[in-house]
Amino acid sequence: MQIDIYNPDHYTGGIPHEQFAWLRANAPVYWHEHPDGGGYWVLSRHAEVVAVSRDFKTFSAQQGFVMVDDMPPDILTMAQSQLLGMDPPHHGPIRRAVISRFTSRMLAALEPRVRQIARAVIDAAPCGEVINFVDDLAGELPTAVICSLLDIPEAMWPQIRRWSDLQTSGTDPDLGGTPEEVNQASVAMGTYGYELAAERKGRGGDDLITLLIDQEVEGRTVSELEFASLFVQLTVAGNETTRSLISSGMHELLQRPSLYRQLQEHPAGLPAAIEEMLRWTCPLHYFRRTATCDTTIAGQRIAEGDRVVMLYSSANFDESVFSNPLEFDISRDPNPHLAFGHGIHLCLGANLARLEARVFFEEFFRRFGPGIESVGAPVFIRSNLIHGFKQMPVRVSEA
Ligand code: HEM
Repeated sequence: MQIDIYNPDHYTGGIPHEQFAWLRANAPVYWHEHPDGGGYWVLSRHAEVVAVSRDFKTFSAQQGFVMVDDMPPDILTMAQSQLLGMDPPHHGPIRRAVISRFTSRMLAALEPRVRQIARAVIDAAPCGEVINFVDDLAGELPTAVICSLLDIPEAMWPQIRRWSDLQTSGTDPDLGGTPEEVNQASVAMGTYGYELAAERKGRGGDDLITLLIDQEVEGRTVSELEFASLFVQLTVAGNETTRSLISSGMHELLQRPSLYRQLQEHPAGLPAAIEEMLRWTCPLHYFRRTATCDTTIAGQRIAEGDRVVMLYSSANFDESVFSNPLEFDISRDPNPHLAFGHGIHLCLGANLARLEARVFFEEFFRRFGPGIESVGAPVFIRSNLIHGFKQMPVRVSEA
């Protein structure tokens, strides 16, 4: 079986289910050589992905969380200052500071604003014309929501989305740029975030930027670098991922008109359906850790310094955890998917993403009812990290 989890071309047909099933059955801890001469241990089963995610002492996030090891030093330092690239004891206090904005009470208070943004986006969709669902509908909401939370001026929203896309889909010729442009986007975004913070420091206000910059963590305020990195992570992490969840989720419903009708008539089923969309679409294929000492995973010896890739998009189809994993079942219960990861780095925006998706579908059904048709095959992003469409041609019409 030909397995190449690194080459982005390998993912232009979506999740390579056949290869991942082979890995789970034959080589659940698989050594994959990397073009840089090193390699990665690839974990394809649910149990090992969970075990490694939990064991933050043996598997560090600080030495990189993606399959890139030739980052320029400034970008590497920035990555290590993001929550996702921090280990304890540093990780906990910063995470607690940010998570205070993402409690269920705060999210309930945010819902009317998310609904208002979703309505505006959906109402602006032109009826009868062929549009790209990904850009014209699904993509607008996550950027607007996170930019509102950070109180970023509206004129900057398209720029934020462009910077964000460059960092997540840099390997796609339609969305990406040269490696220099991708790195520049990260630096420019961090610098912009810091300028905003400097403007707001000490002024009071309840947007996320003001809160974070004035926040005391372990008896000191957040450093410039930490702030710039957090700003980049918050703006990037929820953009393309939530866009993929909404567009791939809609695609699956369009393939199954009876499910579409069922949810349109009974939107109370949306939360369970969204969990299945998360399992099925899994907007991030993987994240990575590095072994801090010699250890074993499922009997395989792993040496200190070895890099380990947790394939969420394989674990979500693990036959030993999910019955009929290749069936899209919107009433699946329980649904212990790993689309948001697991353990101390579990996605901080998980409930925000769920809220955005639910409100989007509720508002879409309200406005268009059954009035949406697919008018061409969707096209996947060329990326080994992001799983989602870049194009999804549809036509919408009044309810
Ligand atoms: C972490 C997925 C939306 C902010 C993560 C992780 C995954 C993930 C897989 C890593 C978990 C781990 O290593 O165990 C997703 C998906 C999303 C989404 C699939 C949408 C469908 C968001 C949103 C935000 C966000 C909307 C923010 C506003 C973060 C942050 C972390 C994170 C800050 C790092 C948490 C930490 O290291 O403590 N996400 N995410 N994400 N996500 Fe998300």
